[in-house]
Formats: sequence, C-alpha cells, structure tokens
Amino acid sequence: MQKKYIVGIAAVAAAAALTLSGCSTGRTTSGSGDSSSSSSVPKGSLIGVALPAKTSQNWVLAGQAFKDSIEKAGFKADVQYADDSNKVPSQQAEINSMLTKGAKVVIIGAADGSQLGTQVATAKKDGAIVIAWDRNILKTKNVDYYVAFNNFHVGELQAQALLDGLKKEKGSGPYNVELFAGSPDDANAKVFFDGAMSVLKPKIDDGTLKVVSGQTDFQKVVTQGWLAQNAQKRMTDLITGNYAKGTKLDGVLSPNDTLARAILQATKSAGLPNPVVTGQDSETDSIPLIMKGTQYSTIYKDTNLEAQAAIDLVTKLSKGEKPKTVDNDKNNDNGSFIVPAIELNPVLVTKDNAVEAYKNNATLEKLAVDNK
Ligand code: BGC
Repeated sequence: MQKKYIVGIAAVAAAAALTLSGCSTGRTTSGSGDSSSSSSVPKGSLIGVALPAKTSQNWVLAGQAFKDSIEKAGFKADVQYADDSNKVPSQQAEINSMLTKGAKVVIIGAADGSQLGTQVATAKKDGAIVIAWDRNILKTKNVDYYVAFNNFHVGELQAQALLDGLKKEKGSGPYNVELFAGSPDDANAKVFFDGAMSVLKPKIDDGTLKVVSGQTDFQKVVTQGWLAQNAQKRMTDLITGNYAKGTKLDGVLSPNDTLARAILQATKSAGLPNPVVTGQDSETDSIPLIMKGTQYSTIYKDTNLEAQAAIDLVTKLSKGEKPKTVDNDKNNDNGSFIVPAIELNPVLVTKDNAVEAYKNNATLEKLAVDNK
C-alpha cells in the first residue's frame, strides 16, 4: 500500500477520478483490445447497457446515469437490468435482444462474469464493440475494453482504513478482526479482497491483527450474491462461535456498505461494542452512520463519472480515435488476456473528509453536512 494514495485524498475527489489511475504499474498505450477498431458507431446508433441486479445503490444509479450520458452524446440507449431471481439467463437474453435490435456497442455490468462467453462472441460476430463495465467479463477474448474504478486499489484503501480506524478507536492492539469478501460470481470480489490482503496479510503475519475465526481464505469469507442477509448470518455465526465468551471484536473488513450495515446489525443484536467496519459505494444509508462514527469508512466511486467514462470512450471510437488504455494491469486479466482498461481512481471517505470528498454530489454532500 503506497501512502501517497491516502494522503490528501479528500482534495482530489472528482478531478482525480477522471484521470487514469496511477495505481497500477500500468504503462498506458494507445490501442484497443481484440478487434474493435474496425467497428463503426455513427451518431444515433443504439447502445445497449446490460446491468446486473440492483444489489447495491451504485447499480440503481447507473441506469439513469447511462440514459443521460448516452442521449447527451447523441446515441440511443437501451438500458436493462438482470432479474433478481433469474439473473444469469435474464442478462444473457437481454444482451441477445440488444444485438437483435442492432446495438453497435454493448456495455455490460456482468451478473456473473464467467457466463457471458456466448453472448459476447455473438456481439463480436455482429461487429459490435463490447465494453465490460465496473465488473470484468471472464475467460473470453471477445471483450474490447474494461471501464472501472481500480478495484485492487479499492481493497488497499479499505484495508488501510481498517488499520487506521483500529489505531484511532481501539487503542494500541493487537486487534481481533474478521474478514468479509463479496460474491464469488463477481470478478471484482476477488480483486477487492486481494488488494485488501496485500495490506492486511503482513499485519496478520506479524501479529498486529488476529483473525479469531481463522477464516482468511477468499472462498471462506465470500458473501454469495452480495446479499445483506448472508453477511448478517455469517457475522452472527462468527460471533456465536468465537466472541460469545467475552473475546472482543475490534474490526471487520467489509467489502461494501450494504454488507457493512448488515455486519453492524449483527454485532449490535449480539450486544457487542461497535467494531471498526469498512465499506464501499457511499450509499445514502451509510453516510449518516459514518458521520456518527458507527461505520468507519466507505469508498466513493462516482457512478456518473464511471458511466461518462464509458460513453466518452464510445464517442472517441465513433470518431475513429484510439483511446488511451492501461494495458498491463494484471488485475484486469480475465483469464484469456489482460483487457485494455480505462481505470478511475476510487476515493477513501471517513467522517474527516466526507464533506470535501462529496463536493461534486449535492445529495451526498448534504447528507455529510446534515449529519456532522
Ligand atoms: C461493485 C461494488 C458493489 C458490488 C455489489 C461490485 O461489482 O464494484 O461497487 O458494491 O458490486 O453490488
């Protein structure tokens, strides 16, 4: 974890997020992925946007953000969400239908990153550009670009926040902690966790942190479907099994805000003192908790900027220009190749920098100010 990403982070929010992330060792080059450069996207073309189920607020916001940015850029939008109960087949069918309607670009936030090989192969056969958005699409060459926040860096920031919060709120340590990861069908979940473990593992090894349950492997700590009830149940079970006899729980690595609130619900129901809990997404339900000190941190990934980055890429391609991409970040390896990426910078938020960090977003800024 390089300190420079933490220092002065409040000041950089919107502007920094627009730049290519400096986090990877990424050489930036011009060039596209597999074969998109020959595709043409005239103004007025249909752009399909296939989003996963609304498992967190960022996905809810994404639909409108895409509609607005696509229409403003002079294209037509077809935005669809996967069904909650039937997410993989419904998303596959939605992508097929976008292609049948003649979409020149499909932007995909994968419901399950490893289940779209057939659909993106069809897209490429039809001459469409395939953009993986926020979540990578796995085990296929048929992805042209990946547009996302730097997910490994999200994990690094979460872990650094956990360490900072423990030091600030729980004295000198060693500290008892538990670890949570996201859903294993989302390619991001492992990358967030790897980023976090790059910071936490040395602290576990040197005894600063003790994972009392012993559960430190990704497969052991995942939260199926990113569902709050699954995280709440696992936290409750961890408490029963490891913290019932007065062992203190100091902190929990939570991969996002929805799960952070579920974890805090479980510790509260068990009557435990408030642990230091991390998060991600800057959800409106979490900001008051952060300002009150109940949830320690979140990450700001501005959904409008992320959608706009994808549409700016489409606009560039429609003009025949070559976008600048990060081509050698191994975290963007989808199992077939490293997908050329537009990477945005995530911003760590605690109550200390919230008002500043949310300056470009009136709703979030007001929540921070009102709950200060
Ligand atoms: C997104 C996170 C979100 C999670 C659950 C991930 O792919 O990057 O921002 O919290 O999905 O919806």
